[in-house]
Amino acid sequence: MSGGPTNSGHGMAGAAAPTGLTIALSKGRIFRETLPLLAHAEILPADDPETSRKLVLDTNLPDVKLVVIRAADVPTFVEYGAADMGVAGKDVLMEHGGDGLYEPLDLGIARCRMMVAGPPCSAPPGGRLRIATKYVETTRCHYAAHGQQVEIIKLYGSMELAPLVGLADRIVDLVDTGNTLRANGLKPLEHIADISSRLVVNKASMKMKHARVKQLIDLLAEAVQRSAAAKAAEKGP
Ligand code: ATP
Ligand code: PRP
Repeated sequence: MSGGPTNSGHGMAGAAAPTGLTIALSKGRIFRETLPLLAHAEILPADDPETSRKLVLDTNLPDVKLVVIRAADVPTFVEYGAADMGVAGKDVLMEHGGDGLYEPLDLGIARCRMMVAGPPCSAPPGGRLRIATKYVETTRCHYAAHGQQVEIIKLYGSMELAPLVGLADRIVDLVDTGNTLRANGLKPLEHIADISSRLVVNKASMKMKHARVKQLIDLLAEAVQRSAAAKAAEKGP
């Protein structure tokens, strides 16, 4: 956790109920992989976001609601108190930056790596390297740390296409199996960070709803440990 609970930051400016908990999740991978962890805390959503158009989902617990939003919006909802807690990829948190929320737990889900990738054996360009990415800030920091000046082109998806059509020399994107890179004739070149999803908590909620928030953090931590132990046992000695 980044420091003790304080009332700094955006606090409870948003719509999170004064009692009870609102948890922000994104559809797809994060929702799917968070479900078993929430189930360990006996939180079961009443609807499936893949089939429902509802953005606020009730759960079996009257005091817990889920809000389903874009992955990149989770830190903003939590920072401003529109949700008490949320689940966000480390990639999204690095890009969001700042210390506006607590990050008490690595959930160990949606694991992948952030990498620089590009065509194999490409000659270095005469001028500045052009990098296509949706992770503009992380890319800027990575190259600044290496003292290299680059031109960054912001994209919102399908980064792998950029080198194929001459839009960029390299990309910065997430790599898991490497299938997407291989399918597009690209290869990983530099490792930037290991990525997994994190539980994030609004700073005021951590203070004002401490007992409830702490209880949920502890149950989720227990679920993460059990899942890691089960995976290790599957792998065998
Ligand atoms: P949106 O659909 O709103 O554009 P998104 O495409 O980033 O967002 P997801 O693909 O569900 O949403 O990714 C959510 C998170 O899952 C990412 O922020 C990252 O932390 C992780 N992730 C993304 N791609 C992979 C992958 N191939 N393997 C494992 N984890 C991944
Ligand atoms: C992510 C990422 C890569 C791909 C990497 O995309 O942006 O394109 O996964 O995974 P791999 O190494 O296993 O092929 P995702 O499938 O989430 O699609 P989206 O970001 O375009 O929604």
